[in-house]
Amino acid sequence: NLISLNLYMKHVMTEKNKSNKMWGGRFNAGPDALMEEINASVDFDKRLYKQDIEGSQVHASMLAKQGIIDKKEADLICDGLSKISLEIEMDEFTFSKSLEDIHMNVEARLSEIIGDVAGKLHTARSRNDQVALDFRMWVRDQIDLCTIELRKLIEIFLNQAELYDGLLMPGFTHMQTAQPVTWSHHMMAYVEMFGRDLDRFKDARLRMNECPLGGAALAGTSFPIDRDYTSKKLGFDRPTANSLDSTSDRDFALEFLSSSAICAMHLSRFSEELVIWSSSQFNFVNISEKFSSGSSIMPQKKNPDAAELIRAKSSRINGSLVAFLTMMKGLPLTYSKDMQEDKEQVFDAADTLLLSLAAMGGMVRELTPNKDVLEKATSKGFSTATDLADWLVKNVNVPFRKAHKITGEIVKIAETQGCELKDLKLKEMQRVCNEINNDIYTVLSIKNSVNSRDSYGGTSPKEVRKQIAMWKKKISK
Ligand code: ARG
Repeated sequence: NLISLNLYMKHVMTEKNKSNKMWGGRFNAGPDALMEEINASVDFDKRLYKQDIEGSQVHASMLAKQGIIDKKEADLICDGLSKISLEIEMDEFTFSKSLEDIHMNVEARLSEIIGDVAGKLHTARSRNDQVALDFRMWVRDQIDLCTIELRKLIEIFLNQAELYDGLLMPGFTHMQTAQPVTWSHHMMAYVEMFGRDLDRFKDARLRMNECPLGGAALAGTSFPIDRDYTSKKLGFDRPTANSLDSTSDRDFALEFLSSSAICAMHLSRFSEELVIWSSSQFNFVNISEKFSSGSSIMPQKKNPDAAELIRAKSSRINGSLVAFLTMMKGLPLTYSKDMQEDKEQVFDAADTLLLSLAAMGGMVRELTPNKDVLEKATSKGFSTATDLADWLVKNVNVPFRKAHKITGEIVKIAETQGCELKDLKLKEMQRVCNEINNDIYTVLSIKNSVNSRDSYGGTSPKEVRKQIAMWKKKISK
């Protein structure tokens, strides 16, 4: 087949290749084409170029500050690196697979621009601590982006909660009508979830913010480097404390992935609700046309594609997390090339999460609840049955279990009559429990039911408004 023919041709052609520039001394032959194919990572790790260049510039200025290289040499290196950064940004940089990865592509180009001095950049450093640094900085940037997107999303949910203050809707357990709640309360439940996601990212960032540069290959270095300086210049809180751990630790990426997976799971759960709510059977909400698509055959269809895709995309992030964990679990200290496979999972997860957060934000901003349908649905399914039982406990002094049984019997009567609890005649209820009086009707109304649930965190609009105010203050900080 074509792919293997292609690989074979490359194989034949590279037999005579020069050995690699960076370690040619020990090698007589160049790599097999298949080796190049499996070994090269530049196609994807070029995404680390900014972090790689910034890290190298700080490393070079530290080497100069410590008298390990000349100040002039460091300046030459830094200027050359800035030029390379520009070339990459302008799409004028030629990446070469034979140079394996972003690190060696940048260094090789640097030697083209400034000559032999470029060779001094890698003093007291290894690609092992270099890649650990680049990747950590990249993940840190993604955490900051996710934080921004999450805050925006929280504001959008808060806005939904405020906009439809007091709007009633059925609350579900087992996907069966349970008790009446409010739309705002439901929106605020997601605010809580996204708030925890924010905390998880913040927490992960705090823990990962240690600089691995200086771990060198694995054992540290005999050069008099200043790790506090590089750490500080690169925005870290401190240098990592164990050089073996510095080069082999990928917890920071795993914590990013696990926080992302949990966050994506939250997005997926709301997506699922939107898919159900927007069906014609429910008709609870209207999803904007901007976030829906039509059917090529059924003209009446408006499909909630964005919600379905966000729901599906969470599985990609789960996949990345599991792949990453599996890749790491068998690795002895310190660096193994397996770890080159760490990046694509994280790149894909970050892209996926950021897109999902933004799409969810757009969709929820434009989401409109169908008030009448929601209110009508709230009064169905005997959603005030618990209120009836609670009334019996408070007014007739029966234990809750007994009240539960009495209520069950009253529900059965309503069910056979095909009416709601509030439509039952007092006499019919008294036949089950003769202590019931007219006062019962106050708790059978949905509005009263909702208002009465004013325990901390409960669904009463008064309580929910407090939560909204608290979150608005928190998020504006
Ligand atoms: N491209 C490599 C990676 O992503 C860089 C580190 C290579 N280190 C080594 N000892 N071969 O992991």
